[in-house]
Parts: sequence; structure tokens; C-alpha cells
Amino acid sequence: MDAVNHQVRLAARPVGLPKPSDWPYTEEPVTEPGDGEVLVKIRYIGLEPAMRGWMNESRSYIPPVQIGDVMRGFAAGEVIASNHPNIAAGDHVNGLLGVQEYAVAKGDGVFKLDTGLAPLETYLGTLGMPGMTAYFGLIDIGRPAEGETVVVSGAGGAVGGAVGQIAKIKGCRVVGIAGGSEKCSYVQELLFSGENTGKLVLHVAEN
Ligand SMILES: NC(=O)c1ccc[n+]([C@@H]2O[C@H](COP(=O)([O-])OP(=O)(O)OC[C@H]3O[C@@H](n4cnc5c(N)ncnc54)[C@H](OP(=O)(O)O)[C@@H]3O)[C@@H](O)[C@H]2O)c1
Repeated sequence: MDAVNHQVRLAARPVGLPKPSDWPYTEEPVTEPGDGEVLVKIRYIGLEPAMRGWMNESRSYIPPVQIGDVMRGFAAGEVIASNHPNIAAGDHVNGLLGVQEYAVAKGDGVFKLDTGLAPLETYLGTLGMPGMTAYFGLIDIGRPAEGETVVVSGAGGAVGGAVGQIAKIKGCRVVGIAGGSEKCSYVQELLFSGENTGKLVLHVAEN
């Protein structure tokens, strides 16, 4: 294949905020998928707070990104070649495909997506890792009961926004906390439609 893969690699472990020199921009030929692998043309890349932690050389739930490696990241795209029995060219998938334009990945390591159900980019948000975190964190761990109050920090964020909406659907009173009046207005209008106190967004669920 003649296509060129554009990639963002980690050149140095950032101290504080990452800076442009931490990220060399590299190009290499796109490679063919091996046995059981798929070649994905990436259309969307997620930007997660977790990515900052993955840049650090510290013990965590996942090893740090190594210096020189393509930056780890969730991405969604279209399969353009497949050697996996359950995935065909034209299918849409997501997974930890990295901050790059093309990815060769194990077919068993990506999720096949139904873009008839929701647009591809939604599978990096509400139907992706942030939405799964919100759903399982609230439902399986938090176990909210109807009528209970759920307090959501970071309520304007990807996870918090979904938590607030799920809690509301479950018949809970939702208190969202967001930084500043602009964010509170956003949370109020789009997520909770309640009284805006400037720092707290309050909503009593309509059951
Ligand atoms: N364990 C897991 O599997 C898992 C999965 C997904 C996410 N997470 C964690 O859940 C948290 C929320 O993730 P998210 O995807 O919802 O993130 P997000 O969309 O970026 O939202 C994060 C929120 O944190 C607040 N914040 C506080 N200090 C900040 C700072 N210095 N810079 C930027 N934002 C800051 C901001 O809200 P305010 O300004 O309103 O405070 C922001 O809206 C993160 O800590 C993330 O690592 C964990």
C-alpha cells in the first residue's frame, strides 16, 4: 500500500504542561495487516485526561507510553483491510489505536461499531470509554435508587455529563458541580435544566 501514516510520538516525558517539542511528528509507510489483524483508517481520536498520566514514568494500571512510541489514545475509524474472520473492510471499529492516521491492530482488540445507531464520533464519547465509565461506575458501583441524591463533580466533563444524565433517568435528584458560571449554564441547559447558582447546578428529577 502506498499511503503514508502520519503519527504523533512521545519524544520526552513532559514536566507540567506538555509542550510542542515533546511531540515529534513522524511519517512512515502504511503496513499491511498480518494474520488476525486489521488495518484501520482513523477518523476520530479521543483526548482523555488519562493520556497525561500515560506520559509519566510511574507505576499505574497500565505501563507508561515509551519514549519514541506513537502516543496511546482511543480512536475510531474505518477498516480498510482485514485478515480477521469477523471484521470486513468497510466496518467501523474503535480501540486503543493511537494518535496517528492509520493503525494496524489485532482484530480481537477492537470493537465493531454500529454507525446506524450513532455517529462514529459518539463511540469515543457517550458510547465510548467515558460513557462506559459513567454507566458502570454509577450503576454497578454507585447503585443509585430512585429518589436518592447523586452529586456529580466535573459535571461539565465527558464522564460527569453522562453520569448526570443517567442519574436523572434513574429518577435521582442530581447535583452537578462545575467550574464557573459559563460551565454551569452549559450543564444546566444541556444536562440538568435546573436552577443555576453559579457554582452549583441543582436539579430535582421529574419522576
Ligand atoms: N478509571 C477510568 O476508567 C476512567 C475513565 C474515564 C475517565 N476517568 C477519569 O475521570 C475524570 C473525568 O474524565 P473526563 O473524560 O470526564 O474529563 P473531561 O471531559 O476533561 O472533564 C474533566 C473535568 O475536570 C475538571 N477539571 C478540574 N481540574 C482541571 C484541570 N486542571 N484541567 C482541566 N479540567 C479540570 C473540569 O471541570 P470543572 O472545571 O467544571 O471542574 C473538566 O470539565 C478524569 O480524572 C479521568 O481521568 C477515569
